[in-house]
Parts: sequence; structure tokens; C-alpha cells
Amino acid sequence: MLDKKPAFDVQAIRSEFPILEQKIHDKPLVYLDSAASAQKPKAVLDSLHAAYAETYANVHRGLHMLSELSTDKYEAVRHKAAGFLGADVNEIIFTSGATMSLNLLAHCYGDEFLQADDEVLITVAEHHANIVPWHLLAERKGIKVIAAPVEKDGSFDLSQLEQRITKRTRIISIPHVSNVLGTVFDIPKIAEMAHNAGAICIVDGCQGAVHMPVDVRELGCDFYVFSAHKLYGPSGIGVLWGKAELLDKMPPFLGGGDMIDNVETDSSTYAPPPHRFEAGTPPIAECIGFGAAIDFVTDIGMQNIHDHEKAMIEYGHSRLADVEGINFIGTAEGKSGVISFTLDSAHPHDISTLIDQDGVAIRAGHHCAQPLMKFFDVTSTARASVGMYTQPSDFDKLAEALTKVNRIFG
Ligand code: ALA
Repeated sequence: MLDKKPAFDVQAIRSEFPILEQKIHDKPLVYLDSAASAQKPKAVLDSLHAAYAETYANVHRGLHMLSELSTDKYEAVRHKAAGFLGADVNEIIFTSGATMSLNLLAHCYGDEFLQADDEVLITVAEHHANIVPWHLLAERKGIKVIAAPVEKDGSFDLSQLEQRITKRTRIISIPHVSNVLGTVFDIPKIAEMAHNAGAICIVDGCQGAVHMPVDVRELGCDFYVFSAHKLYGPSGIGVLWGKAELLDKMPPFLGGGDMIDNVETDSSTYAPPPHRFEAGTPPIAECIGFGAAIDFVTDIGMQNIHDHEKAMIEYGHSRLADVEGINFIGTAEGKSGVISFTLDSAHPHDISTLIDQDGVAIRAGHHCAQPLMKFFDVTSTARASVGMYTQPSDFDKLAEALTKVNRIFG
């Protein structure tokens, strides 16, 4: 008999994640909150431990062996991240996460290249991290922030963006995948529209790079940001990828050690990218753990992860559709990663609190997307989100727990 390994063995994958063996309120954990933060495989936990226990020292500073080992491990992750995104290594800036990456862009690109009355075009489906930095830029520079709507099913009609492009549009900043709707945005077309208008295209890839293969050259955008903690890596570390020619023109973000060329008491000159944008001691072990996460997902294959999660989202929708009084928010074709919903019987916060008693973890609230909540005329939603370890029984248990909510509140 052939000992044929299944292409995607979800049970084998689950066994790599120690936390999934936990009981919550004496019930097996059903973790459906990976969009907020994904769980960590042993490989990441082991690499964090080794980074502290075996090679820990500051990076880029010492000439002693530990500092060199630590630097080598840290800089190796830049190569891994570049490979993961199809980018050049000097185009990878380590930040604390997508929020810092977007704030960096608002400062270093926005402050430098935008003038009063210039326009930043976003959508109503943004996470606050892709709204508030532009509002802060508006307060500093008098720029305008304009948002294109989505359709009622959560899909995105590119003509809504096209209609809002003007002679003053300088930046189009959009999500790769909406963290509430799961809608996948057509980045190649949007980047082309931006470039035709003389604007740049920034992509918030937090919910994109974790669910599908990403090649930034194929996407055609100018900047792509994401956070490691949603890719099964540690929190406190993320990536800002930018085209080399744009990074070269941008001034530093934070000043301090490691980002300089030469410092006098009355002036400083700055290092070239990527170090120009990386002041201070970085999260060294977390970055090394991020490298282990990239290796882990690469080994499994982002396309395999995508295909598995797509099947889970389809199963989740069909299973939850049986729950009385459920309303889905976001049903666009080809959606990814999340299922947002409300129940006629109960508030999302009550749903989440009640089903936690059955060991089921979902997110409830506005999901850092208040404009989208207003657009759909809700104050909050419940949201189940998937990862590579999601199994059909997770949605069976969610559906049972929601039926129980209906019984209690109905
Ligand atoms: N941005 C994360 C989410 O959507 C925290 O849940």
C-alpha cells in the first residue's frame, strides 16, 4: 500500500499549534479569531526561545560573536520576507506592524510629497489604521481624504474608485482583503488606475498576505504592508515593502541609533533604506520568530493554505446559513478569511460572550472599521475568521453555539 501523504493534512497542521489543545471553560478550544491574531506553531515558539537562549545580543552594533550571530539571524529574515513577497531585500523595512507602516508612509511620503488640497483616496472598507494616519496628515497638511463605497454585498465596483479620481489624487490606499467583509480587492487594476492618474498605490495587506500567495511586482502596487502576528508569527514586528526608487526619496521617520550615516552635534546624515527607517533596537527575537513563521507557511505552501481556507469559508457560510435569524455582512464572490454576521436575536457582544462558554472564540465589535459599520447601518458585527488550522467541525460547533444563543434570547 502506498503511504501517500494528503496534500493538506489539517490534523497534522493542528498538532503543530500547542494552544489548540487547550480547553476553554472545560470545552475544546474552537479558535475562529485568526483575523485578529493567528496562533503560533511550535517552530515559531522554538525559534523565539532559541533567539533568547542561544544567540541573543543586540544587532548591527557589536563585533562580538553573539552580536554577529544575532545580526545574521535578524538580517536573514529580511531575505525571507523579500522572497515571501517577491521583492528585493533592500525594499523590506521592518516596522512594529502594519499600523506603524501606514503611519510611516503618511509621514515620510505624505508630509514630503503632498500639498494642501491634494487627495488621498481610500474606501469605506478600511481598517482604522488606513484611515486615521491620513486624517492626521490632513490636520498637518490640509489634504483631503475621500472614500469610495462598497456594494451592498460587500463587493467593490472599480468604477466607484474611478469616479473619485481627480487631478489632485496623489495616493490610493486600499486593503488587499477587507477585515470585515473578506472582499478581495483587485490590486493590479487599482494600481494601474492610480498610476494612470499620477498617484501611488498603497496596499494594507494585513488580511491578504496571510491568506494567499503575494508577489508585489505582479500586484503592481508601490507599497505593501502587513503584520507578522497574523501570519502565525510574533506580535510587534511587521513589514513595509516599498519600491526602491520611492524609498530612496523618502526622509527618515524616527531618528536615533542605527538609521544614520554620520552624526555631528549640529546635523546628521542618514543611512540608505532599509536602515534609514529602522531607528533604535528592533524586536530582535520577534523578527527571528517571524522568519520561522515565513519558513513554516512557505513549507506548507501559501496556495495550499489559500485553497484550504477557501473551502473552510465556503463550508462556514453553508453551515451558518442554517442558523435562524443570521444576516451575513459581506458575501462577495471569491471572499477570503472572514465571515461577519449579526443575529436577529442577540447583540454581537452577547453572542461572543455566550459562545465563549462553549469554547468558541470569535471577535465581536466594530473591528476597527467604524465607517464600514455606519455604511451597513450596524454598530457592530460578530466575526468568525479562519486560519490554516481551521477544520469543518469548528463551524459545526459555532453553528450549534449560535443555535443555543437563539434559544436563550429567542
Ligand atoms: N485588525 C485586526 C482585526 O481585524 C485586529 O481583528
